[in-house]
Amino acid sequence: MSFDLMSYEPRGDKKNSDFFNEYLPMIYERRSSSGIADQVGPMRAIVLQVEPDALFDTLVELYVMTPYRHTASYLGRTHKFSVLHSHADYPALIVMAPLSPTFEDFIPRINRMYPLARNTPQTRYVGEVFAASDLNTLTKTLEGQNIRFEYSGDTENPFYTLDGFRFTTPSDFTCNRVGYSTLDFSDTDSLGLGDRVLLSDAEQTRLNQAAAFGSDSKIAPLMLGIDHLATRVLAGEREDAILEFLTMVPYYFWGAYNIFDMNSSTNVNRNPNVDDDKKSPAKVFTANNTPSFVNSFAKLPMPTEDFVRNFGRRLHHMAVEIQDGDHGAGEKNVDFVVNTLKDKGVPFLAHVVGECKDDPNLKQIFSKHSKHTLLITEYIERCHHYDGFFTKDNVAALTAAAGQDEQYQHGHVFD
Ligand SMILES: [Fe+2]
Repeated sequence: MSFDLMSYEPRGDKKNSDFFNEYLPMIYERRSSSGIADQVGPMRAIVLQVEPDALFDTLVELYVMTPYRHTASYLGRTHKFSVLHSHADYPALIVMAPLSPTFEDFIPRINRMYPLARNTPQTRYVGEVFAASDLNTLTKTLEGQNIRFEYSGDTENPFYTLDGFRFTTPSDFTCNRVGYSTLDFSDTDSLGLGDRVLLSDAEQTRLNQAAAFGSDSKIAPLMLGIDHLATRVLAGEREDAILEFLTMVPYYFWGAYNIFDMNSSTNVNRNPNVDDDKKSPAKVFTANNTPSFVNSFAKLPMPTEDFVRNFGRRLHHMAVEIQDGDHGAGEKNVDFVVNTLKDKGVPFLAHVVGECKDDPNLKQIFSKHSKHTLLITEYIERCHHYDGFFTKDNVAALTAAAGQDEQYQHGHVFD
C-alpha cells in the first residue's frame, strides 16, 4: 500500500452520508483482514460485448480511436472473441459478440428494459478482470461478504465460468461485473476462449489501413492508454455502488465533486498499488444528486440520471490519456488528436474544454457515443502533471454536451 487508507482524506466537496463514512473504513479494514487486499492485483482486462455483425467494425473503430491493436480472435461455443492490447503493462481489451443475434442471457434481457438500449440488445460493457492468485479462496472469502459469483451452468455464455476466470453476477447498482483471473492476458491462447480464427486478407488490410492512419497522422503515439472508466448510476445508489466496488477490489475512494448545475456528482476510485493509473484505470461513478422526480422541483438539467433511465445503469465512457505536450501553433496534443479524428469523420460532442497554460490543468473532450459499443471515448490531457480527474468547469461542460446527445424522444424508439 503506497499510503495509509485509514488516514487518507478524500478530496472534493460532494458530501457523503454517515452510512458511507461509517462503512468505508470498515470495508478497507475487512479487505485487509480477509486477505482480499493481498489476493487481488491490478486490472488485467476490460470486457465488452457488441452485436454479432459489429465485431469487426468495432475493431476498426478501436484502431482509429484508441491505442488498442488486435492480437488474436477466437471462436467459442456461443461467442466470438477478439483480444486487443495496447501497452504490455496496461489491461487487455476483450470484445465479444454472440454468434447469433437471438442469443439470450443477462445482456439482452436487461437491455430490452431501456428505450435507447433496446435496438442494440447485445451491446453492453461487461466489466473488468483483475489479477488474482487463488480463485477458490478469493471466491469463498467474497461469498462470505455476500458477493455473488457465476457457476458453470448458471450462465448462457460459458465465458463467465471458464477455467482460470471467476466473474461476479452483474452488480444491481451498476450492472457491471467484476472478474478475477490467474491467467496471463498477453498469452491469449492460454485464455481458453475457443479455436483461434484468422482474419481474412480483406479484414487484415482494413486493420492495417486503420493502423497506418494512426501512425501516418502521428496521433497513434500520442494515445497512451485508458485513464479511467466512468459508470452512470441512479442518485440513490451512488454510495452503494462505490462501497460494493471497493469491497471487491483494492481500490480507494479518491474523492467526489459536486457538479451542482448538472445535479450530478463525479466520484473517483483509484488503485493505490500502481504508479500509473493506466496500469489499473480509475473507476468513476457519476450520479444525480437528487433523483429525477425530486429534480422536477429545481428543474436543473440532469443528463446523468436521464442517461440511466434511457440506457440503463452502465458504463458511459472510457477515457484515453493523451501524451501531454504542445503540438505547435498554440495547439496542445489533445487538440491535434481531436482535430485529426474530426477530419477523419469521427464525431465529437462540442469542443475541447479546459485551459492548459502554465498551471497544472486538464483538457478534455467527449466523442459522440459509438454506434457499435454505445460508449463515448473521452480524450484527456493532463497538462503539467495535473493529477486530478476533472475540473468542475470541464465536467459541467462535458456532462451538458453528452446530455444533448442522449435525449429520449417519444416516438423515436421503435423506428
Ligand atoms: Fe471522464
